[in-house]
Amino acid sequence: MIIIRTLEELSELTNSVEYRNSTVGFVPTMGALHEGHGSLITTAKKDNQLVICSIFVNPTQFNKVEDLEKYPRKEKEDVAILEKLGCDFLFMPSSEEIYKNYQFEGIDLKELETVMEGKYRPGHFQGVCQIVYRLFDVVKPTRAYFGLKDFQQVAVIKYMTSFFKLPVEIVACPTIREENGLALSSRNLRLSELEKQDALIIFKTLDFIQKNLTQFETISELENKALEVFKSGKLTLEYLEIVDQNTLTLLDEKNKSNLVACIAAYNNHIRLIDNMILS
Ligand code: PAF
Repeated sequence: MIIIRTLEELSELTNSVEYRNSTVGFVPTMGALHEGHGSLITTAKKDNQLVICSIFVNPTQFNKVEDLEKYPRKEKEDVAILEKLGCDFLFMPSSEEIYKNYQFEGIDLKELETVMEGKYRPGHFQGVCQIVYRLFDVVKPTRAYFGLKDFQQVAVIKYMTSFFKLPVEIVACPTIREENGLALSSRNLRLSELEKQDALIIFKTLDFIQKNLTQFETISELENKALEVFKSGKLTLEYLEIVDQNTLTLLDEKNKSNLVACIAAYNNHIRLIDNMILS
């Protein structure tokens, strides 16, 4: 695997005949790679002739300095994982390098950034769009792969790609879970074994919602019962919402199609999110 740290080296690569004549699968990450990222790389390898991954902990998408500082960094382990998976290129720029001579005017994400993650992490999705736009511009991929664990992020990136008519296909890949249901996340590295057990209440609540979707007349009734399930655990809830998969808002209390259930909660100081596509 070739490791690239500067825009100059990257531009040499993207201008090469091999790169220009190949389909390129791109997996943008913030590192601390786990099997979830692994499955994105594997899917990208199946779909494309070349695969490039990026690792960059993007400061502009963090709302809390502490969260940015404590975000796990595991460069050596990440490189070994990517080598093993047969990734062709790894782009690992510094903040100065990636943001050099780059201005992002912002994008009106409409209700996509006022609900759920948008509501509780103001500015977060502008930061995500800022970096993803930049990465697409310099990496020039054919397809880009994102995990559905960040359901709202996928919706935002699809919207941005279509808004700016970017020439890249967005591929959304399923959430990878531990056998007990816990969604894989780089943030899990900051959880103790006990905290990991406590975190399972998120999956249990989502599972309850899925299994009981048709048992209640309205979505509000189902949400209220699900809240009771969640409250039997130890986590502090930020939001639990059952919404339409496209608008991320609830259109009709009685319509049970095209829904996704989303949860964000604090496990002591660690913020976790997860979701389940219901119908
Ligand atoms: O999902 C992530 O890891 C990040 O939000 C992304 C897409 C790499 C942008 O920094």
